Amino acid sequence: MRIVGALGVALAGLSVIGAVTAYGQVDTRSQYGGATAAVVDDKGNLRVPADYRTAYQMLGSWAVAADDGPGSKEMHVVYASPGTIVAYRKDGHFPDGAVLVKEVFKTTTKNMTTGTVSSAGALAGWFVMVKDNVGRFPGSKLWGNGWGWAWFEATDPQKTTSTDYTTDCQSCHVPARESDWIYTHGYPVLTR
Ligand code: HEC
Repeated sequence: MRIVGALGVALAGLSVIGAVTAYGQVDTRSQYGGATAAVVDDKGNLRVPADYRTAYQMLGSWAVAADDGPGSKEMHVVYASPGTIVAYRKDGHFPDGAVLVKEVFKTTTKNMTTGTVSSAGALAGWFVMVKDNVGRFPGSKLWGNGWGWAWFEATDPQKTTSTDYTTDCQSCHVPARESDWIYTHGYPVLTR
């Protein structure tokens, strides 16, 4: 009985740790804990998470057609922090602390055995968004409408060059307002 009891306690402890890790973005001791801590500092400055290519999950991708000629001039690849997809599939909302990273690639287009194909070339930079249900940084122009918003040139993933999300980002995201400013229809993993 004692052993079973101890095991029960140990398992309960483990499942608590599991839950905190899965939804690790929320932490009452600091503005953000878990995965988000590496993305947002206590003043609300954002940066590109160093490990997103291995630790995050891919949401989907976009191809922007070339102005003339075949192929795409840009490719966008979007990642979400761990736990985001599962949480979204449950209730249709991005959980507090969710981080989205959109890579912007220049392309190379050539004939391959499948046809005319564009693939990722030089990285131009990253768009980063961090979900904020609390309104943590009311004084910052990079935060508002439930998100932190920032652009990073490929040369510096640590420091944003955007200054005001209302002019740098939001106007372009108005068509996605009804889906929490995110172009969710491009990400089958969220709903299908
Ligand atoms: C020129 C219009 C435009 C501007 C400016 C813009 N976005 Fe977007 N953004 C889009 C569109 C359209 C998509 C989806 C299609 C695509 O990527 O081509 C998108 C996608 C994203 C995504 C992937 C998640 C999603 O919504 O689908 C992130 C993250 C993002 N943008 C962040 C930002 C941030 C942060 C800024 C400002 C620093 C910004 N964007 C500025 C138009 C824009």
